[in-house]
Amino acid sequence: MASSIVAAVLLLSSFVASTESIQKYQWSYDTTTAAIPFPTDLCAINAWPTEQPGAPYTAKLPDAELTAILGEVDPVRIQAIIEKLASFGTRHTLSTQTDPVRGIGAARDWLTLLEQYKGFAEERSSDPERYVVVSASGVAISMELAHAMAKHRTAATMIFAAVAGEEQGLYGSAYLARIFSIRLDNVEGMWKNDIVGSLIGDDGKNRSSIIRVFAQGLPTTKTATRASQRLSIGGENDSPARQLGRFTRDVANNNVTGMSVELVYRADRYLRGGDHMPFLAAGYAAARFTEPREDFAHQRRDVQMMDNGTQYGDLSEFCDFYYISRVGKVTGAAAWSLAMAPDVPKNVTVDTAGLTNDSSLKWVKVAGAAGYEIVWRPTSERFWTHVIGVGEVSNATVRVSKDNMEFGVRSVGANGYRSLAVFPFPG
Ligand SMILES: *[C@@H]1O[C@H](CO)[C@@H](O)[C@H](O)[C@H]1NC(C)=O
Ligand SMILES: *[C@@H]1O[C@H](CO)[C@@H](O)[C@H](O)[C@H]1NC(C)=O
Ligand SMILES: *[C@@H]1O[C@H](CO)[C@@H](O)[C@H](O)[C@H]1NC(C)=O
Ligand SMILES: *[C@@H]1O[C@H](CO)[C@@H](O)[C@H](O)[C@H]1NC(C)=O
Ligand SMILES: *[C@@H]1O[C@H](CO)[C@@H](O)[C@H](O)[C@H]1NC(C)=O
Ligand SMILES: *[C@@H]1O[C@H](CO)[C@@H](O)[C@H](O)[C@H]1NC(C)=O
Repeated sequence: MASSIVAAVLLLSSFVASTESIQKYQWSYDTTTAAIPFPTDLCAINAWPTEQPGAPYTAKLPDAELTAILGEVDPVRIQAIIEKLASFGTRHTLSTQTDPVRGIGAARDWLTLLEQYKGFAEERSSDPERYVVVSASGVAISMELAHAMAKHRTAATMIFAAVAGEEQGLYGSAYLARIFSIRLDNVEGMWKNDIVGSLIGDDGKNRSSIIRVFAQGLPTTKTATRASQRLSIGGENDSPARQLGRFTRDVANNNVTGMSVELVYRADRYLRGGDHMPFLAAGYAAARFTEPREDFAHQRRDVQMMDNGTQYGDLSEFCDFYYISRVGKVTGAAAWSLAMAPDVPKNVTVDTAGLTNDSSLKWVKVAGAAGYEIVWRPTSERFWTHVIGVGEVSNATVRVSKDNMEFGVRSVGANGYRSLAVFPFPG
């Protein structure tokens, strides 16, 4: 009891400003419960953070073009793709490469259709140096999105990839990530769809409108110095992968997709991994989509009916094609929005040369940006709370302390699409 009063008094002395309000405050202090009533008359000076520049942040809703594209994502076609893929009997990496109807070779030949879409999409992007990648064991989603988007033009090239050898060691995705990093291509974002087939969890409950997006915290590719600098300035929640997670929720958590996009702060589930990991290892922003509650009876199991009537195996009868199409819309909204956006501002830094009350940010402008925005949130918030439009400039000073908030700088295109936010390092 004694220590809590001491704590309360200490708190008080830093909490209130004038003698008058200290008195008011003390008189209302309830010594029997040690509760501290919230001094509503002092709200104005107790706002947190102490200053709140800019406008409240609002999510970007799909525009007419994106809404039309997402409207084309068709559960019936997705069902047909999945049933076709299942008809190859197996897509095990070691299955036959040469049989025309069974095994991974036959499935691959059928999927060359994807390549044609890819060529088409590349032709239609205006900035050939930038890519967004949708990779999938959820192959049907990639195919369906390629179909819906092939006739439209984006700024960055979208690549819809189907990769093999995931269970054996992420071979296909590691190869893909290596190709990109060797060619020094600028991969703006990568999403992997894996285990996105069912809204019914192992508890039998229907969670029809939730999709998880897993986004790693600290990047593992940076030097120890960079990593410790990130920690020292509280940037552990602002890695490129986390910004991609925030971005994904921002553009895809809406009534057009019909989904709640739930961000999970880890690279993947316990004991699991996936095709986004080689992309993370190559230093790219990458994230993974997975259904909200898995039923392990329908993953990584041979198809088998048990004596007690329990069916094991990843069978299409356990897929909900409407749910898969909604996950496809989420993926599509995210990939499209990033591919339509300008490149991220480069070399974003915050001035930490001396102790100041201000936050001075600067960056290198990029082609295709009509202007820039500074986004911020209190350090303990998950999502951006405010946005400050600063125009077509390469630096800006915000009259608030960088100590209390996280900042990000993002590019804004003339079309209204925003890049990922970039966390500023001291510079
Ligand atoms: C799950 O819930 C959604 C929305 O309420 C409904 O449309 C769908 O039919 C349900 N699916 C199953 C298998 O219960
Ligand atoms: C969806 O629409 C309803 C009704 O217009 C609205 O109340 C709700 O906030 C919207 N949800 C999202 C995520 O935009
Ligand atoms: C059915 O049998 C399997 C294996 O024998 C067991 O793991 C599972 O829990 C059983 N399911 C039910 C519903 O009893
Ligand atoms: C960013 O900074 C690095 C290191 O100072 C420099 O090499 C690079 O050219 C800069 N990038 C741009 C786009 O200015
Ligand atoms: C910080 O702000 C206070 C009051 O607004 C001012 O007196 C002080 O000089 C400022 N300090 C610096 C380093 O700018
Ligand atoms: C900020 O940008 C202006 C030009 O827009 C330039 O004159 C000024 O030197 C820049 N300031 C810093 C600190 O980079």
